Amino acid sequence: MSSYQTLEVTQEGPVRHIRLDRPDVRNAFNGQVVLDLTAAFTAADTDDTTRVVVLAGNGKSFSAGADLSWMQEQATLPHAENAQSADRMARMFLAIARCKKPVVGRIHGHALGGGSGLTAAVDLAICSETCLFGLTEVKLGIVPAVISPFVMQKIGAGRARTLFLTGERFDGKEAQRIGLVHRAVPDAELDAAVAKAVAELLSAGPCAVASAKELIQAVSHLSLEDAIPVTSKWIADLRATPEAKEGFAAFLEKRQPGWMS
Ligand code: COA
Repeated sequence: MSSYQTLEVTQEGPVRHIRLDRPDVRNAFNGQVVLDLTAAFTAADTDDTTRVVVLAGNGKSFSAGADLSWMQEQATLPHAENAQSADRMARMFLAIARCKKPVVGRIHGHALGGGSGLTAAVDLAICSETCLFGLTEVKLGIVPAVISPFVMQKIGAGRARTLFLTGERFDGKEAQRIGLVHRAVPDAELDAAVAKAVAELLSAGPCAVASAKELIQAVSHLSLEDAIPVTSKWIADLRATPEAKEGFAAFLEKRQPGWMS
C-alpha cells in the first residue's frame, strides 16, 4: 500500500479505507491533501482487489474544508499558478465522484465548506445526527465554487440558493432531509451504519455497481425520449454479461451469487 503524507490508507479485504489524517486542523485540506486524495482515489479506481472505498476523517471532525492558511497563500501566487492550484482542487472532487468503485462517506463532527463538498462528492454519505454541515464560504468572503456542481447534484439549485447565500450551518438530520447525505444516525451507530452500507454494496455485482454509477451520469441530462436508445442498449448489453448470467442463475437456483463468496 502506498503511503501518503496526509492520509491513512488501509485495506480490509475488498474494502479500502481512506482517512483524512490532519486531525490537528480538523482535516482541513491543503495542496498536499489535494495531491494525496487525488492519487489515493486514482489508485483505488484501478486496484482489482478493491470493491468499495470508505472515506472518513481521523480525530474530532470529518473535515473543516479548505485549509485557510493554504487558501491565503494561494491568493498570493501569480494568477496562472493560483488558477492551476484551484484546478487541481476541483479535480480532487472529480476523482472521488468518478471513482469506478462505490465510495461511502463516514461523516462525523464537522463537514464545513469543502467538507460538505467531500460529502457531496461521495456516492453514499452516512453521517452522525450531530454532525454540523454548512456551505460556509460566504462567511469568509468567498463562494463554494469548485464544490458547487457536486453539492447541487445532491441538493438541487433551489436549496443551494439558500445555503450558499446564507452560509448557515445545519445538522445531520437536516443534511439527510435535503439529500446531502443518505442517512443520519445517532453517533454511537455511525460505524454500524457505514458497515451496513458497505455490506449492501458488497452483496451487489461489482460490474453492475460500476455500471449503475456510469448509468446515472449517462442519463441524467437526457429527455425521457432521448434516454430510450441509451437505456435499452444498456440493459441489453448488461443482461448478457457473465455477471448477470451468474446473478440470474443464483436467484433461480436459490443460492448466493459467486461474488458473495
Ligand atoms: N483551515 C485551517 N485551519 C483550520 C481550519 C481550516 N479550515 N479549521 C480549523 N482549523 C484549525 C484551527 O485554526 C485550530 O488551529 P490551532 O489549534 O492552531 O488554533 C485547529 O484547527 C482546531 O480548530 P478549533 O476551531 O479550535 O476546533 P473546534 O473543534 O473548536 O472547531 C471547527 C472546529 C471546524 C468548527 C472550526 O475550526 C471552524 O469553524 N473551522 C473553519 C471551518 C470553515 O469555515 N471552513 C470553510 C473553509 S472554505
